[in-house]
Order: sequence, then structure tokens, then C-alpha cells
Amino acid sequence: METRDAVSKDVLAGKLEEARERTRFLLGPVSEEDLVAQHDQIMSPLIWDYGHIANYEELWLLHKAHGKVLSKRELYDMYDASLHPREERPSLNLLNRKDAELYLDAVRKAVLEMLEDADLDGDDPLLKDGFIYELIVQHEYQHNETMLQTLQLKRGEGYKPEPRVELPSGRAPEREMVPIPGGEFLMGTDDRAVALDNERNAHAMDLPGFLIDTTPVTNAAYLRFVEDGGYERPKLWSPAGWEYIKEERIDTPMHWYQPEPHSWWTERFGFDEPLNPAAPVVHVSWYEADAYARWAGKRLPTEAEWEKAASWDPDTGTKRLYSWGDEAPTPAHANLDQLAFGAAEVGAYPEGASAYGVLGMIGDVWEWTCSDLYAYPGFEAFPYREYSEIFFGPDYKVLRGGSWATRPGAMRNTFRNWDYPIRRQLFVGFRCAKSG
Ligand code: AVJ
Ligand code: FE
Repeated sequence: METRDAVSKDVLAGKLEEARERTRFLLGPVSEEDLVAQHDQIMSPLIWDYGHIANYEELWLLHKAHGKVLSKRELYDMYDASLHPREERPSLNLLNRKDAELYLDAVRKAVLEMLEDADLDGDDPLLKDGFIYELIVQHEYQHNETMLQTLQLKRGEGYKPEPRVELPSGRAPEREMVPIPGGEFLMGTDDRAVALDNERNAHAMDLPGFLIDTTPVTNAAYLRFVEDGGYERPKLWSPAGWEYIKEERIDTPMHWYQPEPHSWWTERFGFDEPLNPAAPVVHVSWYEADAYARWAGKRLPTEAEWEKAASWDPDTGTKRLYSWGDEAPTPAHANLDQLAFGAAEVGAYPEGASAYGVLGMIGDVWEWTCSDLYAYPGFEAFPYREYSEIFFGPDYKVLRGGSWATRPGAMRNTFRNWDYPIRRQLFVGFRCAKSG
């Protein structure tokens, strides 16, 4: 008992420390001007994310978990996501980099002191097995990805932190689609140490057989849709999707451009490069994914289909934590963890294959599903309604699998992300499915 407690506290403290190192690494090369500017209406100034990380940690790891108050009440409010929508955040009297640093450090120092006496083996569901520490670490990971979305939207000087990870090259899959036989599988999880509330409860689901693309849709495939007049044919689009692309004058994925006819380029973190035909398409809205699927004679997978294809092992009748198994992600399994600053070509990770042989489900690009975000049976909001419950309903589409910008500790087969169907700032692509 004694040993397990001591070890897990060291592990938690180590995770907190490592998360902060990454946050600082990502923001290190950003100029003061770029830290405070709002680079896009839908994103916060980076300095808000930075202060918010500390504030959220103070709220949960000091105040809620241990009844300790450190900062002035106004600081809570300024960084409370539900009190201030993103467009208001630039007008707040945010801490500058230096003061934010002091705040982050002060909170962290107090957190580590409280952790020493925390009872992680008791009945408090917040502290039990270190859940609340896990939540706070994952929150910092999530904001790291948000910050990278902001940096990709930023204009002006390019963003190029070093070192960068080299990616393996891809290989075209042998078969375009993988058949997934009908039958029951286990959706979601009952885990309470790492999983978040919307991933619970685990429940059996019986799905009819279906086919799913072996890999995410590539730039080459998506380009055929573009060049086939995909954006000019209303019949391929949902009415809302058609209205949206015409209103916003969208006729390619975000960041694509043509310096001359038939030559396609893209801009990644402020640097221009030729579009890689073998890489997955990225920065497409749900509406574009939906139209492409219709053009291809397919449809988007439901999130249950996605999760079955990624997680179910039909031979053993058990569920895997990641597509390849329960082993923690390594660079041989998937492109996660940010330092590649982009997606690998499809088929680059044969070792990451799911039990059914589906590739690239974890990492590289988030994948749109056709599902709206709803509660699973037995769902209970924990530890607060604003994490997921207030987003349940028809307004948000579910995304799965994480991207190259997702930290490994924030990803697993049951993880559910969501956004509006018009959004393209995410590192998001998709794969298609077909009924069997
Ligand atoms: C789960 C990624 C949709 O960024 O809005 C961050 C995560 N929640 N701070 C978001 C989150 C609170 C959330 N997503
Ligand atoms: Fe947050």
C-alpha cells in the first residue's frame, strides 16, 4: 500500500512537470506580440491559454481537491472558459508572460506540497487513484494542441521550434476498405482513473457489418474530388453544408492554394510546401468530409463503428486501449506528441494496425464521424457539467483518434473530441465507411 501510494505520487508529479516543460517549449519561440494577439476570432490569445492552464490547476488541484485558495477571485473569472467566450478574451486584463510564469510556478509549488499529503486511496472520487491529477495533466495536453491550432492560424512570421521529429514514409494499403463483421462489441469504458466522464459507461453494442477505409483519405484522393467539381455540385452537399461553403467562399481545404494552375501547395505554420499527395487531407470541415464521402459513394462512419474498428479484438473478444493493443504509444505505433509538426503519409505505421487491420486510427489527423455528441447510457457528469454535458446535443460532431498534435497521454480508443461541423482549425481529416 505504502509503496504503491508513494510511486503513483512520483508518477503524477513527473507527469505534471513534463506537461509544463512541453507547454513552455511550445511557447518559448513565440514573440511577446504573438502571445497577446488574437490570431483568429475562434481562438484565444496564447497568453490566455497559458494563464488558464494555471488557473484550472489552481481551481481543481488546490481549491476543489484540498479546499485551498491561492489567488484573488478575479483571476479565476478572467480565465474561466465558461464566463468568457473566446472572442472576449483579448479585451481581458490578462497577465503578461512574466506574471503568468510567476502564477504558474506559485500554483505548481502549492500543488506539489498538497500532493504529498493527498489520500489517493480513499473514497473521494476526485482524488481516488489520482483522477483529478490525471484530469489536470490531460487538460494541459489539450490546451497544448489548442495552442498549436492557434499557431497554425497565425499569419506573419513562421513558427518553427526545434528539434523536430522525422517521420517514416507511407505505403499505399493493399485493400482500400476493411470489412468489419457484424456483432457485439464493447463501447466506452468504466475506467475512473484516466478516462473522462463522456467515455463512460462501457456498454455492449451490436452493429451490423460494415466496411471502413484502411487509411484516412489522402490529399491525392481529396484533390480528385476538388478537380471533379466537388465544390460546385450542390447534390453532393447537405443543405447546411452547401450554404456554408457558398457563404464562406470555400472551395478547397483550409491552407491550400495554387501558385499556378495544377500545382497545389499548402502553408504549414507559416511555411509554404507542395501538397504531399500521400499525406492525409487535413483542415477540412465536417461538411466537406460529408460531401466527399457522398462523392465517393460512401459515408462517414458512426463513432461506434470507428471505435469497434479501432478497439475490438474479435479473436479474444476483448477491447484494446489503443488500436495496436494496450502498450503505451511509441514512435513505431503512431504519429502523436507534436514534435513532427505535421502528419505522416498514410500507411506509415503498420505496427499501429488495429486487430482488423485498419491503419492510422490513432495520431496523424483527428477523424470526423457522422455522430452527434451524446451521453452514453449511465453517463454522470464528473467532475463538472461544463467539461462535456453542456455540449451534448445535435450541434457538435464527434471526432476520434487524435492527431500528430495530441499528446499520447490525452489519447486512447475511447477518447471523444467534438466541434462544430463548420470548424477547420483542428488537425482533422476523415476516413469513409460503407454499410456491409
Ligand atoms: C474536449 C477539446 C473540446 O478544447 O474545448 C479544454 C477540452 N476543456 N479546457 C476544448 C477542454 C476545457 C475541449 N475539447
Ligand atoms: Fe480549458
